[in-house]
Amino acid sequence: MERLDKVLAATGRWSRREVKELVRRGRVTVDGRLAAAPEDKVDPAASRICVDGEPVSWEAFVYIMMHKPAGLLSATEDARQKTVLDLLPAELRRRGLAPVGRLDKDTEGLLLLTDDGMLTHRLLSPKYHVDKVYFAQVKGELTASDVEAFADGITLGDGLVCRPAKLEILTGDTCLVTLQEGKFHQVKRMLASRGKPVVYLKRLSMGSLRLDERLEKGQYRRLTEDELRVLRDETA
Ligand code: URA
Repeated sequence: MERLDKVLAATGRWSRREVKELVRRGRVTVDGRLAAAPEDKVDPAASRICVDGEPVSWEAFVYIMMHKPAGLLSATEDARQKTVLDLLPAELRRRGLAPVGRLDKDTEGLLLLTDDGMLTHRLLSPKYHVDKVYFAQVKGELTASDVEAFADGITLGDGLVCRPAKLEILTGDTCLVTLQEGKFHQVKRMLASRGKPVVYLKRLSMGSLRLDERLEKGQYRRLTEDELRVLRDETA
């Protein structure tokens, strides 16, 4: 059971204060009865909650796939700079969605945003072995010895040891990098440690979830039920 004001505010349509006002004005009913107080306990999955007679649909969690453009921070807020949350409408921003792992400001590609903390944890924890695949363009010529070094596990300049990773050379200066962890600037630092600084980076996938190429940079959509089911299965 959850508090009525929490459930209504979680729809993103009203703030907690607005919800209190709705209840006070007698505009909210639960299973046909006038709600007495914002603190009333309701079962969000089973109770029929209406505002002004209109049923309110309730989702436990929201899952958004975004094609992150360069130039935005993967953060929920920042005093000075725009974040990926600025691309979402107010009702989604109010849900308290957070990016699943950070992409650098200049990195593009697949970014999942959700308020499902458990799934977020599982997608990011190396324990669940979820592959993250990046397309990178570097300065310089990639070689078979770079591929080997990635497979052996690269040690970065500050002594940080990376788990074995996959490097697939596409052309001389472009490649796919597959990691199961996400340390700060990891792809850039791994390639820089081989003398091949990254000039462009894009995340293509997380586990089975591939960036929908129909999404233009800056566009987003909800995950389909199939995409979500497979992601959950992969991290079970
Ligand atoms: N690795 C990086 O270096 N940058 C990113 O944005 C993601 C992975």
